[in-house]
Amino acid sequence: MASTRLLMVFLGATLPLLFLSPAEAGEVGVTYGRVANNLPNPARVVKLLQDNGITMVRLYDADPVVLKAFAYTGIKVMVMLPNDDLAAAAKNQSFALQWARRNVASYYPATRINGVAVGNEVFQERSDLTRQLVPAMINVHHALVNLNLDNAIKVSTPIAFSALKDTYPPSSGRFRDDIAQSVMKPMLKFLVQTGSYLSMNPYPFFAYAEDPNIDLDYALGNYKPGVNDTNTGLIYHCLLDAMMDATYFAIEKLAEQLSIRQGSTNTQFTEVGWPSGGQIRHRGIRPLSGNIGLDVSDGFQPATVANAKEFNNYVIKRMLSGKTGTPHLRNADTNIYIFALFNENQKGQQGPYDDVEKNWGLYYPNMTKVYEFNFRGSSMTESWCVANAAVGDERLQAALDFACGHGADCSAIQPGGKCFQPNTMIWYASTSYAFNSYYQRNQRALGTCDFAGAAHGVHRKPKFGNCVLPSKDWIDETAAKSEGYAAI
Ligand SMILES: *[C@@H]1O[C@H](CO)[C@@H](O)[C@H](O)[C@H]1NC(C)=O
Ligand SMILES: *[C@@H]1O[C@H](CO)[C@@H](O)[C@H](O)[C@H]1NC(C)=O
Ligand SMILES: *[C@@H]1O[C@H](CO)[C@@H](O)[C@H](O)[C@H]1NC(C)=O
Repeated sequence: MASTRLLMVFLGATLPLLFLSPAEAGEVGVTYGRVANNLPNPARVVKLLQDNGITMVRLYDADPVVLKAFAYTGIKVMVMLPNDDLAAAAKNQSFALQWARRNVASYYPATRINGVAVGNEVFQERSDLTRQLVPAMINVHHALVNLNLDNAIKVSTPIAFSALKDTYPPSSGRFRDDIAQSVMKPMLKFLVQTGSYLSMNPYPFFAYAEDPNIDLDYALGNYKPGVNDTNTGLIYHCLLDAMMDATYFAIEKLAEQLSIRQGSTNTQFTEVGWPSGGQIRHRGIRPLSGNIGLDVSDGFQPATVANAKEFNNYVIKRMLSGKTGTPHLRNADTNIYIFALFNENQKGQQGPYDDVEKNWGLYYPNMTKVYEFNFRGSSMTESWCVANAAVGDERLQAALDFACGHGADCSAIQPGGKCFQPNTMIWYASTSYAFNSYYQRNQRALGTCDFAGAAHGVHRKPKFGNCVLPSKDWIDETAAKSEGYAAI
């Protein structure tokens, strides 16, 4: 076991980079809102996510019961400082510190909190707080620095797509004049400096609902003819791609002014979804830009189970297959949160009419799926076990010692082994290799990829340079070949 200690040599300053490792990127999660009086308790919700292979959630608060329910599950959790606390967080560093201590530090690392959303759609929901937004983000980040959590937990703020203007064609996309220089520029600088993400909520549904010229197939992600951005010659078959690229182009225009390399700007899409029911009313509860005037009476009804199923399955499948790029940024890596986990019956306007805001869920409150979908992709039988670097060195080391002492193949992580790489990813790759070996050799039995929260399962083959984590077949094959190793 002494040999695994050698790995510690490479620890220290390099640990922060682990969180940018390839296995962490391109993930699809869900938003877990609770504006309802009929939802299952958080423990049952956590079980639902685990049973369905959902590995990442975004919350709209930092509720203690919810955060405790996620402990030791390995599920990544983004918490939120509500808009109502934004002003206090912006002007009072002690408030920000106290908030972070109570709502983040007390649950971490047992609960794998990976982000703090400072407010939500502030420009749209609380434009009076626009000036406070970046100062609040900076203060929350400082609080995390104080608590030594700034490497594992990133501060961002989800913004509504209406923060952009001239989004058609996508290459014209830029931030609105009233926020570009005063808010978005300092925000971008902050996000790059802290290794965080710009967080955008793009809604092809609302764009489609507003604009009669948009084809339904384009909004749902599968428009065969394509739309030509004549500035760039890029062809778009999917409105979501166009909205993502409008975001990227807007960021690039600001990044250029800041002399920031475009590649250093991470972006994630923190709400992407389609409602399965309800009606778009003449005065929708979500302020749609321009004069829409769509009325239920004109028979326009895009919020259907069939449309929601098609759109959300398109997004989930695409993310699981690793196709996170866009026509403009083919290699862009991004996370997407599907909006939303449940139908929430207390959202939107109350009254005799239903409306779309109550119908964004993948699940009904009774935990029945509204339509079929699958977060495990087609390779449901394939899974790998990787380290949860967020638990810290000590627990990783303990788990590594356990795995190597209980039948994991740890030869590849010894000096000279193909997963012993003297680079920044050594710790994540090595521990993952050992955990995965233990997991595969135990035939992926329940509980063999946990290590007291130091590991979790993934459904995409993890790769760290030349170090490819073996799957079941590889293990079976080499086990059969290897002398002295009992067949599993
Ligand atoms: C700043 O926040 C702390 C902690 O919440 C609070 O005790 C203090 O009264 C606040 N100060 C001001 C000036 O609001
Ligand atoms: C897209 O538009 C550009 C500019 O007008 C044009 O050169 C290009 O041929 C068009 N591409 C397609 C596939 O139509
Ligand atoms: C769950 O709720 C939905 C919507 O009310 C209903 O259609 C479905 O039958 C329910 N499923 C179960 C198992 O009760």
